[in-house]
Amino acid sequence: MIPYARPDLGADDIQAVLQVLRTEWLTQGPLQAQFEDAIARYCGVQYAVAVSSGTAALHLAYLALGLGPGQKAWTSPITFVATANAALHCGAAVGFVDIDPRTYNLSPAALKRELEAHPNDGPAIVIPVHFGGQSCDMEEISRLTRPRGIAVVEDASHAMGGTYQERPIGCCQWSDAAILSFHAVKIITTGEGGMILTNRADLYESLIRLRTHGITRQDDLFQQPSHGPWYYEQIDLGFNYRLTDIQAALGLSQVSQLTKFLARRCEIAAAYDEAFAELPLIRPWRDPKVSSSWHLYVIQLVLDRIKKSHRQTFEELREAGIGVNLHYIPVHLQPFYRNLGFKPGDFPQAEKYYRGAITLPIFSRMTQDELNFVIAQVRKVLLR
Ligand SMILES: Cc1ncc(COP(=O)(O)O)c(C=O)c1O
Repeated sequence: MIPYARPDLGADDIQAVLQVLRTEWLTQGPLQAQFEDAIARYCGVQYAVAVSSGTAALHLAYLALGLGPGQKAWTSPITFVATANAALHCGAAVGFVDIDPRTYNLSPAALKRELEAHPNDGPAIVIPVHFGGQSCDMEEISRLTRPRGIAVVEDASHAMGGTYQERPIGCCQWSDAAILSFHAVKIITTGEGGMILTNRADLYESLIRLRTHGITRQDDLFQQPSHGPWYYEQIDLGFNYRLTDIQAALGLSQVSQLTKFLARRCEIAAAYDEAFAELPLIRPWRDPKVSSSWHLYVIQLVLDRIKKSHRQTFEELREAGIGVNLHYIPVHLQPFYRNLGFKPGDFPQAEKYYRGAITLPIFSRMTQDELNFVIAQVRKVLLR
């Protein structure tokens, strides 16, 4: 079975990790800071805070922005559950904004409608998700949120290495913060890991404390007189969300290969685009303002031109050895969210998308033979 994603780990990555095991810095150490610097430089952002997962990054970003009980966070229903769950962990309520049927990203037009419908009970934070690696329309989202004093956190878990208006994803020009995930299937990996990017010094100060239990050793922040050189204070309620130096070593080695990873993903997407032009499916939309990181290549079946159902097509592709997947079941249809009051029909575009979407394999280590095999099987299953 050719999986939909696979980490790209080579001899240099393995060597980098082994090297750390020969030092005494196993948890947060010098490599974490180097990894943060490397990502901040790449993304053109001032501050980067490495954490133990993308989920932890979301949680801390929302907390640092002050999200809490009595407030709302709005995101796209086509995302991984973590984007929404992290807001619930802050004690806030979650709302969704339907997707644009062309980009599969949170629709700025729907956001405008929802904001106008909720002049006094709108969200404190909006979280656009750069689905599959393709940036949301950040300029438009920022134009709608900034005048209303709404914070924006970009969920860029899929989008490391992508660009929007020729600026790197994560530069935070149109947002308060952006988060990345370094989970094993992402563009670069640390096994598990994540990062928060921001240009706001106030958020940065808060994030580094929240990552380590709410503790500070910075004497200008002490609320009591210092007891001596060992002194530290807990001034917030934080977590242990640190990334280890073992993971940071892998991350640094992976960042150094990012250009190569992205180039191969682009080649695969271009080959799929060309091979599938005549098939009864909709290929991913290419926004001229965006260069995608191609974390996912999602096709949308044109069901009235295919002699089988979505499910049957999916099953036949799996039987043919293609590890297709489906990103995502709309979050509001999960039982947990149904219990919060969401129901089928709430976000029609997201639900329509779900009824026809299939994720094809795309990963930088994909060989030409694997690529040819996927193309041949997709053609066979869809034309049969
Ligand atoms: C869109 C999105 N947001 C958040 C996450 C959470 O990231 P992590 O798995 O690193 O916690 C993921 C990971 O799958 C994701 O795809």
